Amino acid sequence: METTLYLCQTCRMGQPVPDDGIVPGQRLLAAVSACNLPENVRLVPVSCLSACARGCAVALSRPGSWTYVQGGLTPQDADEVLGMARQFAASADGVVPWRERSALFRKNTIARIPPLPAKEDI
Ligand code: FES
Repeated sequence: METTLYLCQTCRMGQPVPDDGIVPGQRLLAAVSACNLPENVRLVPVSCLSACARGCAVALSRPGSWTYVQGGLTPQDADEVLGMARQFAASADGVVPWRERSALFRKNTIARIPPLPAKEDI
């Protein structure tokens, strides 16, 4: 099952828009886009994950799995984002064991959202 990495391209990290007009979220998007994505991961830029006060933000989602919203990211954290995505995609249900998460991942989880119920369970 494919994992979606939503990346907020409008994050400003609490700062005014820089003179060049390129906000930190756009810089992080450019850095992640320039890398090879992990297997079974697709990148989807979005405008605002409602985590604006928490640095750059991403969300990892997959049908049948927990969804994680992560903040505290900077434009320099492309490798961190891809590492998180790789671990998430390799997990059985979206839950990466705590001790296997990076410090940034552990410290900056904004929300984890349960999987949607299957149609037959509604
Ligand atoms: S602008 Fe990025 S979370 Fe709101």
